[in-house]
Amino acid sequence: MAELQNDRFLRALLREPVDVTPVWMMRQAGRYLPEYKATRALAGDFLSLCKNRELACEVTLQPLERFELDAAILFSDILTIPDAMGLGLYFEEGEGPRFKKVIRTEKDVEALKVPDAATDLDYVMNAVKEIRSELKGRVPLIGFSGSPWTLATYMVEGGSSKDFRHLKKMMYAEPQVLHELLSKLAQSVTNYLNEQILSGAQAVQIFDTWGGVLSGDMYKAFSLDYMRKIISGLIREHDGRKVPVIMFTKNGGQWLEVMADAGADALGLDWTTDIDDARRRVGGKVALQGNMDPSVLYAQPERIRQEVADILQRFGTGNGHVFNLGHGIHQFADPEHAKVFVDAVHELSAKYHV
Ligand code: CP3
Repeated sequence: MAELQNDRFLRALLREPVDVTPVWMMRQAGRYLPEYKATRALAGDFLSLCKNRELACEVTLQPLERFELDAAILFSDILTIPDAMGLGLYFEEGEGPRFKKVIRTEKDVEALKVPDAATDLDYVMNAVKEIRSELKGRVPLIGFSGSPWTLATYMVEGGSSKDFRHLKKMMYAEPQVLHELLSKLAQSVTNYLNEQILSGAQAVQIFDTWGGVLSGDMYKAFSLDYMRKIISGLIREHDGRKVPVIMFTKNGGQWLEVMADAGADALGLDWTTDIDDARRRVGGKVALQGNMDPSVLYAQPERIRQEVADILQRFGTGNGHVFNLGHGIHQFADPEHAKVFVDAVHELSAKYHV
């Protein structure tokens, strides 16, 4: 395997010194890029794109051709696990993900099988191997999964939701059923991430997109505890290098202190928490990733640069910052503005790393 030429992303996650602040964007491969839309059209649909080793690799690398990103992220989706559990994932044009089967009862949960990551999700592992080979050591590759709670929202609701009616009913009315579901998911996620690491992922991120819709006690019991369990079961060193773990709970800013104790190397932050405040609160236990509002990319270049400068100044000097957006890049973002963002991070951060 080619030697890694740019390891700032891995170093920053481990709070080691870097020359400039590394940067990548959540959802950096996607519909805001015309070349992504062209490749997706070739594949037919989104899931076929995920399952095609060469095309999944191609779209993973597309943003790296345009921007000086410090990491690549596997092109896939968090819903591959419930799909492999037999729920029948499909995408309704303009409506997001849907499942043919939903999980509502104890019987439904009991019937679920923990997938064998190496065989049932072999297409994901093949994509990881292909991408690592094509990256030729340019930058590290990030693998990822959804958190058990976030996966459960889709499995129980049957798709995207605004109020999480069925899942929250299960949580309060039949908590033991939900715990059983989350345990199976935690086991599935652990196996899945470990298999990605063995296939070549050099860091992993757990996306807890919906943890922030819970009260504090419920967040700890139904989301954080399962992520902690996963993290404690992950392979943390592979091929002679540490494999850092990033935990991202959207809207989780009020729980940073407990999140910092969950065993992750870094916490992802959305833009609703000030990064200087977050840094004080995690007390040097973890690195921080984030946290520009993706909507800033709708503004003009000077405004984007100003926002980057402001976040860098808030974080200040010292190690342990990976720049990112606070959530995925929007499909209507201008790729030229994404370039302004990425370049600004490198240019304006040098003075904080002397
Ligand atoms: O970051 C990357 O570039 C890697 C690819 C990636 C995708 N999904 C591709 C994708 C990643 C990391 C994800 C994670 C994901 N998927 C999450 C967690 C991250 C987050 O955004 O909070 C969630 C909640 C999902 C579930 C999911 N997949 C939804 C809700 C949707 C529909 C979104 C939409 O905008 O329509 C998807 C589809 C999806 N996943 C797309 C992409 C590029 C769009 C599919 C298309 O091409 O039409």
